[in-house]
Amino acid sequence: MSSVLILFAHPALEKSRTNRLLLEACQSVDRVTLNDLYQEYPDFDIDVDREQRLLLEHDYILLHHPMYWYSSPAMVKQWEDLVLEHGWAYGREGKALVGKKMLNVMTTGGPRKAYEEVGYNRFTIRQFLAPFDQTAYLCNMIYLPPFVVHGTHRLSEPEMHRYASQYKSLLTMLTTDQIDLEDAKTRRYLNELLID
Ligand SMILES: Cc1cc2nc3c(=O)[nH]c(=O)nc-3n(C[C@H](O)[C@H](O)[C@H](O)COP(=O)(O)O)c2cc1C
Repeated sequence: MSSVLILFAHPALEKSRTNRLLLEACQSVDRVTLNDLYQEYPDFDIDVDREQRLLLEHDYILLHHPMYWYSSPAMVKQWEDLVLEHGWAYGREGKALVGKKMLNVMTTGGPRKAYEEVGYNRFTIRQFLAPFDQTAYLCNMIYLPPFVVHGTHRLSEPEMHRYASQYKSLLTMLTTDQIDLEDAKTRRYLNELLID
């Protein structure tokens, strides 16, 4: 059995359609801790000890956020800058996160076909996520492909509910160790493991 920490960052949850539903889906899964960063730290004043303690207590670290300007909302960067300290998360003495698994859970306004080298965003999602991939690598974590909900502006209610239920299935698979990590690493998106 594994535990999952969701580091959730949405600066305007009251306006959210998609992430709100995704969040609801994860409330009922055992061994999942939801850490809503904008709610905890409205002034960006992150409690580093609390965050490091949470990281130590969990096996999977999920950075869950909408895509903003081809990356994450600013809170995620603030969290990384303060929490992933030298000598704790990386560096010769920094071994706190070795072997933990990390991935992004992300919603994008743009449709999937826009995130191709020939699409209008010119880069794939994996290319946009390279800084997260390398951050995990530097901290000796295992970086997994993202779970992505594309095209949020045009999603119907049933489609959104389907993604929410896929997210719940993903969390259940992670917490019950039903994911083959070597197979997962070869996928473009973790969504591929959840096709129903
Ligand atoms: C400031 C801002 C920047 C955004 N940047 C992007 C972007 O770079 N690529 C993209 O596909 N969508 C972008 N979007 C659209 C959001 O990703 C989309 O509205 C969000 O994922 C929908 O989730 P929600 O309903 O939970 O808010 C942006 C939205 C905002 C407000």
